[in-house]
Amino acid sequence: MAIDVARARAETPGCGKGLHFGAAGASLMPAVVLDAQLDHLRLEAEVGGYKAARLAAEAIEGTYDSLARLLGCGRQEIAVIENATLAWNLALHAVDFAPGDRILTAEAEYASNYISYLRLAEHKGVEVLAVPSTPEGELDVAALESLIDERVKLISVTHVPTNGGLVNPAAEIGRVARAAGVPYLLDACQSVGQLDLDVEAIGCDILTASARKFLRGPRGIGFLYVRDEVLERLDPPFLDLHGARWETAESYSVIPGARRFETWEFNYASVLGMAAAVDYALDWGLPAIEARVCALAETLRGRLAAIPGITVQDIGRRKCAIVSFSAAGHDSSDLEAALDRQGIVVGTSTPYSTRLDAERRGLPTVVRAAVHYYTLESEIEAFAQAVEELVA
Ligand SMILES: Cc1ncc(COP(=O)(O)O)c(C=O)c1O
Repeated sequence: MAIDVARARAETPGCGKGLHFGAAGASLMPAVVLDAQLDHLRLEAEVGGYKAARLAAEAIEGTYDSLARLLGCGRQEIAVIENATLAWNLALHAVDFAPGDRILTAEAEYASNYISYLRLAEHKGVEVLAVPSTPEGELDVAALESLIDERVKLISVTHVPTNGGLVNPAAEIGRVARAAGVPYLLDACQSVGQLDLDVEAIGCDILTASARKFLRGPRGIGFLYVRDEVLERLDPPFLDLHGARWETAESYSVIPGARRFETWEFNYASVLGMAAAVDYALDWGLPAIEARVCALAETLRGRLAAIPGITVQDIGRRKCAIVSFSAAGHDSSDLEAALDRQGIVVGTSTPYSTRLDAERRGLPTVVRAAVHYYTLESEIEAFAQAVEELVA
């Protein structure tokens, strides 16, 4: 079913207040997400945080059902974690790496992830290999397959990189990982909420994301998915009294399910905001969201590519809602600031955020403009005109 854009905009307080192309950083929240947070904050102010959590217990538990529906997994396979970076690192550091073990990743890997690989190389003697890309730009699945051997301990890939519209072939990578019996960690921070994801279809064992990006949730909250079958092969880097029970003076037991990766304290207003965002996305339907954002992004790419001096920098056979570009003779950060002065929100991505990809392609800092399903075609035109005037 097609998205009712007028309703989506009416339900989004930020729509119509300037032009928002910042969804790759943080999308505009719908009113239901804002209200879920404000209602809980008010309750906390009235009865205190602990009683508020008891009163909201059913809704809080519902978060796990909502996320399980979003990803097509079991609720016990979900942990709620403060952000994608933490969720991803908790999983990575739960793998029992030994010297000589290999991690296979992609060229467009996110800086924070790569820094963690480098630390593992330094501390544990792990080798990190970036699988080459195809001429079109995505991870080359045949090259990945050829690199599989007994040394490979983890396949760890970013689905949609931080610096552009590329969609890596997550399900094809999943087939290679399954056939090889190698655990597969997918950083879905930039794809959750804009692409229709199903962990069974993708075949990933671990998936991480934040709520604030295309899911339209609050900041400071995210989640971790861990497949039941790999859970016991992972050793959480630490456990608290929420993830484990102190059974006797000398012993403890780990709780069942992915929640062992959580800690006790939560910002429940954010948790409930994330649950509302997931339910809201599911109500629209992820296939409908994906179809609209991809079509809008193609329109934006075409319009920008027609402007003299603009280079659209997106690569890959499959692309998504993020449109990255640079302008000859213009610094992308200056462009971002100039657009901001006109009430137009975009982001930028420096070469250091995806160093291997940026160096390979000689990328400058790029402007990152992302559409969402609430974006209008007329906003795309107004945005393109503003860019055209700035670079003329
Ligand atoms: C690909 C990718 N992974 C992970 C993250 C980190 O997410 P968070 O800032 O929520 O920890 C980002 C943030 O931009 C990202 O682009």
